[in-house]
Amino acid sequence: MDTGMTALHAPVSAEYRRTMDKTGYADGTLTIRYTGELPTEYRFPTEYRAYWADKNGILEDYTAFAPILCSGEETVYTLVSDTLIPIGADRILVYAVREDAVSADAACAMLPEGAGDYDLGKPLYEMQVQSDIHITLDQNHPHNRHFAMVLEEIKKLSPNSLGLFINGDTGDTADPGQYENCQELIRNAGEGAPKVYFAIGNHDLGFDETAYEIRLANFLKGTRNTWTDKAYFDLWIGGVHFIFLGGEKRSGHAWLSETQLAWLDEKLAENRDVHRAKYVFLHQGMIDTVAGCFAYQKWHGVTQTEELAAVLGKYPEAILFSGHSHWVLNSPHTMRLRDDRLCTIFNTSSGGYTWDDACNETNKGLVGCEGYYFYGYGDKVVARGRDFLAGKWIASAQFVVEY
Ligand SMILES: [Fe+2]
Ligand SMILES: [Fe+2]
Repeated sequence: MDTGMTALHAPVSAEYRRTMDKTGYADGTLTIRYTGELPTEYRFPTEYRAYWADKNGILEDYTAFAPILCSGEETVYTLVSDTLIPIGADRILVYAVREDAVSADAACAMLPEGAGDYDLGKPLYEMQVQSDIHITLDQNHPHNRHFAMVLEEIKKLSPNSLGLFINGDTGDTADPGQYENCQELIRNAGEGAPKVYFAIGNHDLGFDETAYEIRLANFLKGTRNTWTDKAYFDLWIGGVHFIFLGGEKRSGHAWLSETQLAWLDEKLAENRDVHRAKYVFLHQGMIDTVAGCFAYQKWHGVTQTEELAAVLGKYPEAILFSGHSHWVLNSPHTMRLRDDRLCTIFNTSSGGYTWDDACNETNKGLVGCEGYYFYGYGDKVVARGRDFLAGKWIASAQFVVEY
C-alpha cells in the first residue's frame, strides 16, 4: 500500500557559523535546510541528529549533539554556549530523523579552518563529579553496577584523579547497608581507583521517622568521613579547595543554618585566589538556576536560596554543583556561567538514573549514568560531560570556564 510517505533523505545543506572567536570554542549556529515533498505531514523530519566529525566520519568518542527539532525548510540551531569543539574535528555531520528512521546520508557543515586544531596543554589537576548514585542493598541493581562501571572507567581515563566527588543521594533509602555496598564497590575497584568524597543528599536522610542526627551519623560513618560531625565540611586536596554543604533538617529541601552560611562565607575567603576555581557541593539546587531547577521543572530545593546566593555571589571564582534533579546533561541550561548575582553553577545529572522534562509527565526515570571529568588549567577549567553507559563524551556538554 502506498502510504504517501516520502523517503527520509539527508538535509539539503548544513552551514555552521561561528559566533565566538576564541580558541576551541564551539559557540555558533548551525543552519539546516530540508526540501520535502507532499503530503505535508511527511514533508520534514521531526528532528536532526548532528555529530562532530572529521574526514573519516563522525568522532566515535562523542554522542550526538543535544536534540535539534526541525522547524520546517530552514532550522537554525544555536550550539550550547561556552562549549568546546573536540580537538581534531573539522566538520559537523547532520542526519535527518523521523521517529525511528535516520537518513542514510548526512549533510556536512565545515568548521572554519583550524577550529578544532588547538592544544589545551597539560592540566594542573583532574577530578570527576557525579551525583545521585542511589546505591541499593542489591549489588546487581543497575545503580550499583553503574557506580562500579564509573570507578573502572576513571581508573583508566584519569589515573591521577584528585578524586571522584558525589553530590548527594549516595544511599537510595539511607540504609547503612547501602553505604557498606558503596564502600565494597570502591574496594572491589582496587588499586588505582579514585578516592571518593561524598556530600549529603535528601535520600541520605531517609524517609521514615528516624531522627536527623542518627541519619547524619550513619551517613558520615558509611562514607568514612573523619573530618566532621556536621552535614558540612571542607577539604584542600592537591592545592584545590572543596567545600561540601548539606541540609541540616530531615527534608527534601536543603535547610541551611545561619551558622553554615557564615562558615561558607569564611571558607570561600580562605586563601582566596580569584583566578583559581574552588568547588562547592550542595545536593539540591536553587530555583531558576540550572536544568531541573526551573520553576516548571519542580526539582529545585534550597530553603535559604536568597541567603545562599548572597554568599556565593561574592565569590565569582567558585563553581557550585547542583544535583538532586537528575536532569540529563543534554538539557538547556546545564551550565550557568557566573554573573553579577551568582557564581558558576553546573547541573550534575545522575549516576543511578536520569530525568528530563518528559519524565515529569510519565513520572518514570531514564536509563542513564552521567557525570563530568574536570580538568583544571592555569587560566581555565574544562568540564567534559560523560555518558558512562555509552562510554562517550556528551557533545553538547563540553564546557569551558575561563579565569
Ligand atoms: Fe537523587
Ligand atoms: Fe535528591
